[in-house]
Amino acid sequence: MFKGLAETPPMGWNSWNTFGTDINEKLVMDTADLFISLGLKDVGYDYIVLDDGWMTKERDENGNMVADPKKFPNGMKALVDYVHGKGLKFGLYSCAGATTCAGFPGSRGHEYQDARTFAAWGVDFLKYDWCDTENLNAQGAYETMRDALAKAEYPILFSICEWGDNEPWNWAKDIGQMWRVSGDITNCWDCEVNHGSWSSWGVWKIINMRKDIRFAAGPNHWNDLDMMEVGNGMSTAEDRSHFAMWNILSSPLILGNDLRTANANTINLLTNTEVLSINKDSLGIQGFRVSNKDDLEIWVKPLSNGSWAMAFINMSDIDFDLNYDWQASIIEDSIYNRKIDSKNKTYTVRDLFAHKDLVNSSQNLKTKIKKHDVLLILVEEKN
Ligand code: GAL
Repeated sequence: MFKGLAETPPMGWNSWNTFGTDINEKLVMDTADLFISLGLKDVGYDYIVLDDGWMTKERDENGNMVADPKKFPNGMKALVDYVHGKGLKFGLYSCAGATTCAGFPGSRGHEYQDARTFAAWGVDFLKYDWCDTENLNAQGAYETMRDALAKAEYPILFSICEWGDNEPWNWAKDIGQMWRVSGDITNCWDCEVNHGSWSSWGVWKIINMRKDIRFAAGPNHWNDLDMMEVGNGMSTAEDRSHFAMWNILSSPLILGNDLRTANANTINLLTNTEVLSINKDSLGIQGFRVSNKDDLEIWVKPLSNGSWAMAFINMSDIDFDLNYDWQASIIEDSIYNRKIDSKNKTYTVRDLFAHKDLVNSSQNLKTKIKKHDVLLILVEEKN
């Protein structure tokens, strides 16, 4: 596996959540331009990833995958060059099965050939799906593609997408830099949408489904909670909590909205550097839940220099009056052996969405949190 491609969780954009297979080169070029003009690149978003549907329904006479000439009249290499010309990176999608989930050619039996194609185009990121994989062993299939990418000798970040079915957090650390932990996300707070043979999941369904696998995350191997739904229709408060949680949980931050129509609130949220610094913290420790009592979820993430990020989320439909007593308990991370020793030490407290300092931990933390909103704070030891 290529080393050092994802020291912190990868950041970028993926076409699937908003566009499905309705993708084309203009969309990619516009998105690349917007990465620059909206300041997304400046804060670290750098991968632009085309999901399913970029290829023709059949391979060519030599068995090569071909970019659909109607969607990409100038071919894939020219598009990759355009994205690279903006100082950004480019990603593509394929599948471990013979066909992708949308019925296009997958890489089964063509792994080395496809890896060579992607490398020749300058592709920097491969998302590798799991449809049509009957009788395939997941670990083996992903190892095959990892080895094929290595053989092609062009550094490609490998994003595993087998929906958590085979528990990749137990085996994929040396295979890919990130692995999906669930079926597809959908833009709701806590719903399940049943599609018959599979379901898509709201933000809190995914968080709760996989709250016990933080041991597996770290630099160059991340639990991927799926492309984000920020800007796709949830309330402002829900978008804020969703984004806060993906940061607390050290998930890759892959945008899933249409940047051409995104409003200023959405862009301000996604480019909040105080929040993003939680996700980019060099320790790469995934956060965990401290409690969920009385409709309040409390989550923390240990950061370098003894600091912590802490999120208080109001799960109820009415305002929540927070009155948090720092003296009442010590928060301990038993896996990584750290604690917020607020009984014996004083910590400064900063609100990362309001961009302001709050009273320090010698006094109770009091504020109103609206329905489904979050108070996200940085907790630092006072010198
Ligand atoms: C799913 C995957 C989605 C998207 C889709 C494309 O399996 O989880 O993120 O890639 O396939 O068909």
